[in-house]
Amino acid sequence: MDVKKIFEVYKEYEKKEIKLLGRVRSHRQGKVVSFIVLNDGTTLKDLQIVYKADVKGFDKIQSARVSSIIEVTGMVVLTPDKLQPFEVQATELVLLDQSIEDYPLQKKEHSPEFLREISHLRARTKTFQSIFRLRSAAAFAIHEFFQKNNYVYLTSPIITENDAEGAGESFIVTTRADNNYEEDFFGKKANLSVSGQLHAESFAQAFQSTYTFGPTFRAENSNTSRHAAEFWMIEPEIAFIDLTGNIKVIEDMLKYVINYIFENNMDELNFCDENLENGLIKKLENIKNSNFVKNTYSEAIEVLSQAVKNGHKFEENDIKFGMDLGSEHEKYICEVVNKCPTFLINYPKEIKAFYMKQNDDGKTVAAVDLLVPGIGELVGGSQREDNYDLLMKRCKEMNINTEELKWYLDLRKFGYFKSAGFGLGFERLVMYITGASNIRDVLPFPRTPKNLLF
Ligand code: 4AD
Ligand code: MG
Repeated sequence: MDVKKIFEVYKEYEKKEIKLLGRVRSHRQGKVVSFIVLNDGTTLKDLQIVYKADVKGFDKIQSARVSSIIEVTGMVVLTPDKLQPFEVQATELVLLDQSIEDYPLQKKEHSPEFLREISHLRARTKTFQSIFRLRSAAAFAIHEFFQKNNYVYLTSPIITENDAEGAGESFIVTTRADNNYEEDFFGKKANLSVSGQLHAESFAQAFQSTYTFGPTFRAENSNTSRHAAEFWMIEPEIAFIDLTGNIKVIEDMLKYVINYIFENNMDELNFCDENLENGLIKKLENIKNSNFVKNTYSEAIEVLSQAVKNGHKFEENDIKFGMDLGSEHEKYICEVVNKCPTFLINYPKEIKAFYMKQNDDGKTVAAVDLLVPGIGELVGGSQREDNYDLLMKRCKEMNINTEELKWYLDLRKFGYFKSAGFGLGFERLVMYITGASNIRDVLPFPRTPKNLLF
């Protein structure tokens, strides 16, 4: 049996014998009674083991250190007047594997920085058990949402020729030390994917609705709490819909994920609420029941200019149409002004990628970013330019290599009517639903500038 199961059925097991394996979280040896707090990883909950000197295996078990693995045989005893609803009174205890004395995770509080240096052990703490179980549940919920809605899951290639976002932030894949790409493995320059979107667009033309969920690599040297060099992105792409339809998918998907974790992961959510972000559950409850606000980029510029006039000081205080919004501006809009998740739409074309649909005003594109309090940009997406000539023109203006993107651009020649999609940064979502404040704490083994441990 495992601890998760026992917590589900302990009432039926009153005074009955159970047997299980687990890791010692703490061990208090008393004169008459001793206590072991046991965790076997199947649930956040710990099992309380009580034993006396007459237990079989007493001599050996007395020496069991924190993190040792033991086998427990014992009786389930209900303890209605104690914090935990039941405990196990051991009849036999076997020390299966002893841990060393200076196990790095002792009972005291550890800093997140220290814990990142022992990422191979930190998943054993309650904080990281909560975060990574929620991460796993959210991934499942996302797949379930798309599968239920008839989307086809596309595993887009990890090694690519193009830099989809055109931002020049890709890692080069090479087997050589001399930059001679003609002689290299692929006979040309290759890099790790910064986005699966372009491939997803081709699948959307075949299946109508498709999505990717895969690793994404960006060599942007931004050492922030929200950027990683290796992160996971979900990129749905849907044919025959416009920006409004796209926005609806974003909102529906996020609500689905939140509902899912409310139904399946209350232990973890409660732990995160108590330990990572006070009010987390209330915040997520509100999301389930609210409609997100929608503003245009121009409206955001107006609001920010007004804030500056009223004396608010941003680091970038020169607010004007055409500027790229910094995270301070994004946070101001969703945290101070709207106080809720906010879709910002119709950005100036100069600050967005080449593939976005140009609006009739000649200045903006049909882009959408979803900004959420505490995180800033959670989602970035757009309707795609479906007009071949306009797309080619934009590529030329932006110095995009149209030769290596020929296959992508040509999609417009073979029947292509409206397509829209978005990219959800999975780690940012996990930060949002756990209250973790640093992306390094929601990635099992984070990769960030000057940091490649494990
Ligand atoms: O806004 P981005 O760059 O959009 C795209 O890549 C499009 N191709 C998406 C699409 O339309 N299919 O990235 C999408 C999201 C961001 O909103 C952010 O949440 C996340 O990916 N993201 C990162 N997350 C962690 N670390 C980084 N370095 C990230 N860069 C982007
Ligand atoms: Mg973006």
